[in-house]
Amino acid sequence: MNKPNGANSDSRALLVVGGKPLTGEVRISGAKNSALPLICASMLADSPVILTNVPLLQDVHLICEVLTALGARCDFNNHELTIDPTSISRQDAPYELVRKMRASFLVTGPLLAKFGRAEVPLPGGCNIGPRPVDEHLRAFAELGAEIEFKKGVVYARGDTLKGAEVYFNISSVGATENLLMASAMAEGVTTLEHCAEEPEVADLVDFLVSLGVDIRWEGPRRIVVHGKRDLRQSEPYNIIPDRIEAGTYALAAVGTGGGVQVKNCRPQHMTALIEKLREMGVEVETGDDRLTIAPTEKVEATKVRTQPYPGFPTDLQPQMTTVLTRAGGLSVVTETIFEQRFSYVPELVRMGAGLLQQENAVVVDGNKSRLTGAPVEAYDLRGFAALTIAALMAQGESLIAGYNHLVRGYEDFIEKLTGLGAEVKLTDRSYKLKNNNHK
Ligand code: EPZ
Repeated sequence: MNKPNGANSDSRALLVVGGKPLTGEVRISGAKNSALPLICASMLADSPVILTNVPLLQDVHLICEVLTALGARCDFNNHELTIDPTSISRQDAPYELVRKMRASFLVTGPLLAKFGRAEVPLPGGCNIGPRPVDEHLRAFAELGAEIEFKKGVVYARGDTLKGAEVYFNISSVGATENLLMASAMAEGVTTLEHCAEEPEVADLVDFLVSLGVDIRWEGPRRIVVHGKRDLRQSEPYNIIPDRIEAGTYALAAVGTGGGVQVKNCRPQHMTALIEKLREMGVEVETGDDRLTIAPTEKVEATKVRTQPYPGFPTDLQPQMTTVLTRAGGLSVVTETIFEQRFSYVPELVRMGAGLLQQENAVVVDGNKSRLTGAPVEAYDLRGFAALTIAALMAQGESLIAGYNHLVRGYEDFIEKLTGLGAEVKLTDRSYKLKNNNHK
């Protein structure tokens, strides 16, 4: 397995002393993958917009930098973000910002809708696959936009977008979100067929409705948008909790056999995970805004297949694979969304996991897995989360390099883990682990 591109230049690493069950309560923050599209959608408004429950994450600050570069104002007051889009004076997103984060491409839809033009560099691939935007561009053209490519930049033009029937060839979260924002101000009615229906897409629909756009879900994966100009917010909008952060802590509890209460989450957004955990023999209790994981002596092996929502989320695949190393017997995890989302597998093997990867699936042999602490490296956000869970499960000390990935998507990660009794601290990747014969 070759190391993906973008090996870490950042020297920060997480030191973990494992082998203890997590216990206690953890409070979930606002959803990263909801905050990013909603911040972009704020550009459609003709007056300032307030978002609450905004997670303070590197990716959130990055998208605010993109909007600021376009002329908007973004002001944080703790977890409340005020965006004033009325001073936007440019529609060309800066390359050096867009290349850092694929989600920056979500500025294209609102810029095109509001100003009739958008110049946005193509987002680079990242460590989980090439991740094209062909579905976004094809659908913009259906609304009448002229799309051109020059030197890696997408030039989209369209003075008045016209409502149309758009059919997505694949269920794409980003393409659905970009087209919701583009059609929100198009003339007439747009039908989006075969949409993604992740909770974060639903949050964007609710936000656009709160700005005055007439949008309705009409049957499975079908959204009808009646475009409207002069959009304004009537009251602050509260972002939904992060179901992937919640699932990560729930899986950390199961991995270490501990009992943990996950507060301020939406269990109804986490059905696939909850059902899978119950299948593994884990007792999961759910309330309106919380879920409780009971302590476990052991868990059963199972099979997991990532799917678009409401299927098992790809963003929890690395964390689930890690937890299955403690299950008695053989498990299989199949990744159907991204081509390369197994960069953490060789690192887990170094820690003593019994894994065998074959194309887009990995077989987990729980009986051959005995996790012990080791120096490891993460290459993407959820891979870092998975290696942290492994380190919490393992006997001894682990050092996880690549902390720059983690800060993109987990607010107060060290504080929240410490609150659950974990022994974790930030250090440098040059730290030498105690009694460790790993070279
Ligand atoms: C969103 O990415 C999330 N990011 C990802 O979370 C998440 O893994 C993904 O959806 C799937 O749920 C944000 O919301 C910011 P897609 P996105 O378009 O929109 C292919 C995390 O860890 N595709 O649904 O980029 C694509 O290559 C991140 O928080 C095309 O082929 O995902 C991929 O294989 C990682 N053409 C699949 O579809 C297109 O035009 C799903 O991509 C668009 C996508």
